[in-house]
Amino acid sequence: MTTIAAPMATQGISPSRVADAEASLARARAHTLAIIAPLTDEDVATQHDPLMSPILWDLGHIAAFEELWLHQNMSGPIRFAEMPGTYNPFEHPRATRGALPLPTLDGQRAELARVRTATLGILDDAVFDARSPLLRDAYVVNMVAQHEWQHQETMLQTLQLKQGTPYAARPAWSLPRGSGPATDGAMVLCEGGRVRIGTDDRTASYDNERPAHEMSLAPFSIDVTPVTNAAYRRFVDDGGYDERSHWSEAGWQWRCDTGIRAPKHWERNADGAWSVRRMDCVEALDPLRPVCHVCYHEAEAFARSVGKRLPTEAEWEAAATWNPERGAAQRFPWGNEPLSHALANVDQLSFGTAQVHAYARNVSPIGCYGMIGDVWEWTSSDFAGYPGFAAFPYPEYSEVFFGPDYKVLRGGSWATSADVARATFRNWDYAIRRQIFAGFRCARDA
Ligand code: AVJ
Ligand code: FE
Repeated sequence: MTTIAAPMATQGISPSRVADAEASLARARAHTLAIIAPLTDEDVATQHDPLMSPILWDLGHIAAFEELWLHQNMSGPIRFAEMPGTYNPFEHPRATRGALPLPTLDGQRAELARVRTATLGILDDAVFDARSPLLRDAYVVNMVAQHEWQHQETMLQTLQLKQGTPYAARPAWSLPRGSGPATDGAMVLCEGGRVRIGTDDRTASYDNERPAHEMSLAPFSIDVTPVTNAAYRRFVDDGGYDERSHWSEAGWQWRCDTGIRAPKHWERNADGAWSVRRMDCVEALDPLRPVCHVCYHEAEAFARSVGKRLPTEAEWEAAATWNPERGAAQRFPWGNEPLSHALANVDQLSFGTAQVHAYARNVSPIGCYGMIGDVWEWTSSDFAGYPGFAAFPYPEYSEVFFGPDYKVLRGGSWATSADVARATFRNWDYAIRRQIFAGFRCARDA
């Protein structure tokens, strides 16, 4: 029996929250198994890129994290934040994980199943003491589920970078098509003023999303949709990569050092047209989809080239959720209805981006489309704690990454779970990174 034994231990418990968290765990596992189903032993053992782990490592790490938090840390003091040994991400940086001795694919499947069977037994008996912030409303179960969901997105990045035979993506549903003209570069006004950013939610949100706080924003305009392939191609074809004035100093340095002249996975055909590869599909560049696989520097240079800038993350969040008529932040751009892949392009198994405007209801009160799903959106903000930030339940999730080295991305991608892609969720990466499913939209002072 795993419990913090206490009289009145059931006080404040919401059984449906526990059931929801367990359902997220189960759904996450179904997606893990679906994603790895087409892979061979060699596919999962190979380190396909120095930025990424072998898939076998992600699988073992998912099991180790679950065992640590749901078997060991559920009762009594927290022992470790990450399991010591092979699957500790700090002991073994990504570039070195290809050299670790790892079990076979079947071995990892068996390990995932062994840990999960034990987890379900523990959860059956667990008392989710409302006085423990870790256990209340099954927070720790949601945390473990979100951890698995996030590593699936990481594995999908690896599979997009896969060497050898391209990954045979097996879409579980098809994407709707754009329902209107791509209003490239069209903007809407956010009047700013006092807005509410972040959340006080303690059922699923990470420590870096808290606390909710008020901020004053100057009026700004923001793009109605993410920047499309068509708009970005103009930047490429018009020599945007060679125009020094578009680039920051660090961006120009990156561009000169790498020689990069187009988004990752774009290929120029003999006739001058562009193709894009996503997993095993090589397709003509779809002008109506958001540009993807650009780094922060590229996003910033594009924005400057059209006389705009990137939004701060507070501007992004206000544009996504602030309802000026009600003077309140909504849960999602469309309101309160829970996110699913019917509302926005999330949950991984579409295996790619949709055309902007494809999801007619994925629109915020001020008129921004596609803020949830499809591509992560770079913001101009460094990753930092909100005023009053408190690390919970371990500093190695967020706090150790705070600082100017990381830029914040918002909104989730097609590879993000509906249980993760929320309006307050903060992702982060280095300004030079292009393996993530990231695009951007632009803003301007109003
Ligand atoms: C929030 C996506 C930056 O992958 O480094 C996974 C998520 N943290 N395991 C990452 C995470 C611990 C994290 N990101
Ligand atoms: Fe992890």
